[in-house]
Amino acid sequence: MKKYLVIGNPIDHSLSPKIHNYWFEKYKIENSIYEKEKIEQKDLPTIYEKLKNGELAGVNVTLPFKKSILPILDILETSATETQSVNTIFKENDKVIGTNTDWEGFHRSIEKTLLPNKKNLDDKNIFIIGAGGVTSSIVYALKKLGGKIFVSNRTQKKVEELKNLFPEINVIKWGNKPPRCEIVVNTTSVGLNSADKIDLDFSDYNNNELFFDLIYSPKETNFLKEAKLRGNKIINGKMMFLYQAAFAFSYWTRIKPEIDDEVIELLD
Ligand code: ATR
Repeated sequence: MKKYLVIGNPIDHSLSPKIHNYWFEKYKIENSIYEKEKIEQKDLPTIYEKLKNGELAGVNVTLPFKKSILPILDILETSATETQSVNTIFKENDKVIGTNTDWEGFHRSIEKTLLPNKKNLDDKNIFIIGAGGVTSSIVYALKKLGGKIFVSNRTQKKVEELKNLFPEINVIKWGNKPPRCEIVVNTTSVGLNSADKIDLDFSDYNNNELFFDLIYSPKETNFLKEAKLRGNKIINGKMMFLYQAAFAFSYWTRIKPEIDDEVIELLD
């Protein structure tokens, strides 16, 4: 039996097992199962050992271990080094390799929504809110698409750390506004609790800008609801989540799963 795992803390809410087990069945990949496990930092070496000896065939990593897992892996792919974030682990030639498919998930999601006729975001200003675990993947993806990136985080120190990783970003003090942006991305956890709202004023953003929230449950955070009421385009993190899962799945199985209505509905 090939065993796959998503590790994190908390992990109860993870929908990754549902998606990957659905694809194992759909693509008739036998003797494979994907489970979730709540772990502590001290458990990371055991996870590594299990990957090395084949007890685990592949692992997804979620908060808060995406960064702290880096030092224990044998090899990091460029995306993992540049974002300092690993969400997918596989083994090749007896080496345990960490990569990042979050950025690809976001990249694909933005491409599908925004760039059907265009190849990049060169003439666009982009405002990223937050500097948490996933933000480096978003910056990495947006860097590839072009555009000018502004980032603001409640805790200044964390956004300064992000700037060390990506010197090209423009840091905006929390509460201040960047120049007019065509795209605004929420990478904070505010909105997971549907009553909560980001404490920033976007009331003058009412001209068909794009508001992207990485959160997909609830489907519409207050950030998105209010943006929509003001006449903007909105997109939640559902397609990003599915694409990152699809990229991880293809690392493990060499199969590129189709993102069809059925798998999209699994998240509803
Ligand atoms: P971590 O910071 O451990 O990586 P995360 O869940 O990846 O955790 O990131 C949480 C993000 O949401 C951070 O950008 C955090 O801002 P701080 O760095 O200031 O903590 C942001 N966040 C969480 N609650 C927030 C709130 N009430 N207002 C604004 N930002 C908030």
